[in-house]
Amino acid sequence: KEIVLTGIKPTGKVHLGNYIGAIKPALQLAGAGDCTSLYFIADYHGLTFIQDREEFNHLSYSIAGTWLALGLDPDRVIFYRQSDVPEIFELSWILACLTSKGLMNRAHAYKAIHEQNIQLGVDADTGVNMGLFTYPVLMAADILLFQSDKVPVGKDQIQHVEIARDIAEGFNRIYGDTFKLPDYMVDESTAVIPGLDGRKMSKSYNNTIPLFETPENLKKLISKIKTDSTPPQEPKDPDTSNIFLLYKEFAAPAQVQDFRNQYLSGISWGEAKQELFQVINAALEEPRKKYHELMAEPEQIDAILCEGARKARALAAPLLAQVKSRIGRYK
Ligand code: TYM
Repeated sequence: KEIVLTGIKPTGKVHLGNYIGAIKPALQLAGAGDCTSLYFIADYHGLTFIQDREEFNHLSYSIAGTWLALGLDPDRVIFYRQSDVPEIFELSWILACLTSKGLMNRAHAYKAIHEQNIQLGVDADTGVNMGLFTYPVLMAADILLFQSDKVPVGKDQIQHVEIARDIAEGFNRIYGDTFKLPDYMVDESTAVIPGLDGRKMSKSYNNTIPLFETPENLKKLISKIKTDSTPPQEPKDPDTSNIFLLYKEFAAPAQVQDFRNQYLSGISWGEAKQELFQVINAALEEPRKKYHELMAEPEQIDAILCEGARKARALAAPLLAQVKSRIGRYK
């Protein structure tokens, strides 16, 4: 069976970009049932950004609650918190020792901050901790420890999966064939979900539509989606519209066709946003309720994550032992 693995870091509220780019395809794959799915909360990746203990704790539960509310079945998916699987961090160190610093210098999250600092005329490493710098090594350990075949992600994570491949190849070259080379899985049409301002929807741009807002807030946010100044009655191109793009992800095919026709015959942006609100709100009403119920019972979430970590550790142990033997840790 193919191994499918993906993670989300708890650095803010889960938003439509996370859902459409990663969670939805991952849940579809898990539902199809012919693969082994490992989905996890990348909490120690989140620690590179969130150093407030209350917030760190809450956001981790919130990611877990989100997956479960959206239908993740813990009997089908190995669902765990990264920090409950110490094997990941042991492998991470071993991989770090085989990874050149130059490779990390080129990783885009670090590079972006570095370049921005230079532009601002401050020290180039301002605000960069070692966790952020070596972030891709930990992500490689996440992926390689489970011999993942496929990693469903949005476009912004492609480079990280490629780095994981590079690191795996490096290890295999020195110590013999050990790690499987993972592939990213990115759907072209949903690779970059735009945010309110048209740039990539991202926690760091403050332009997100969180998944579980109150209907009032959801409506308010949707009304802020940037549109052009085409007059209300004029035909509009559904295929270049961010509103249409989001609509497609939540509506039934017949509804989508209908919406497309409305675009072609002329719909005002106000009406289009109203329709988008309705379709998203209807789709998320139940999961939102479920999410709040789950968040009121963190023990239930803990029990699920604990069991997931137990399974993940059992899967990881033999490969880590093999790695340790290959590097000469055992005779
Ligand atoms: P994170 O937490 O930033 O995002 C989680 C997932 O959501 C996708 N995504 C998007 N997809 C489409 N459009 C968008 N606007 C958008 N914004 C976010 C991301 O691509 C990602 O798939 N480093 C990872 C977490 C991670 C991980 C892993 C992922 C840690 N270890 C191992 C896969 C495998 C991250 O920061 O994702």
